[in-house]
Amino acid sequence: MKYANLAALGAIAWAGLQPWAAHAELTPRQNALLANNCLQCHARPSTGAPVIGKADDWSARLAKGDTVLLRNTVEGYKGMPPMGYCSACNEDDFRALIAQLAGKEIGKP
Ligand code: HEC
Repeated sequence: MKYANLAALGAIAWAGLQPWAAHAELTPRQNALLANNCLQCHARPSTGAPVIGKADDWSARLAKGDTVLLRNTVEGYKGMPPMGYCSACNEDDFRALIAQLAGKEIGKP
């Protein structure tokens, strides 16, 4: 219950940040993963993380290609910690979460 409430709060927090349509449907579980892990940095510009849904922050990163983005998420990249601290995330979760952050579907290789 507590978890679900947190997820709802997170969803509201980032929905408030970005008026554009979400690009991937997250399951309630993935919403919790997003809120509890990724958004701690990706909703805070001061961390240096590209901001969720902010196209300017993501365009150069998306140009690297889906495979590189997925690998950098799993292995870490500069200030981005390995797996974004999400030890409960699997590969499908990462694809969905990156799509949510970047505003673009991340294809399967
Ligand atoms: C502790 C802060 C932090 C957390 C937590 C975090 N990130 Fe990041 N992330 C960063 C920073 C900082 C960068 C920018 C790194 C750079 O380019 O200097 C980044 C970059 C990225 C990138 C772009 C990588 C690239 O190749 O340009 C992706 C994708 C990403 N994060 C996904 C995620 C996902 C998914 C989660 C949650 C599971 C997450 N991040 C959690 C800080 C974080």
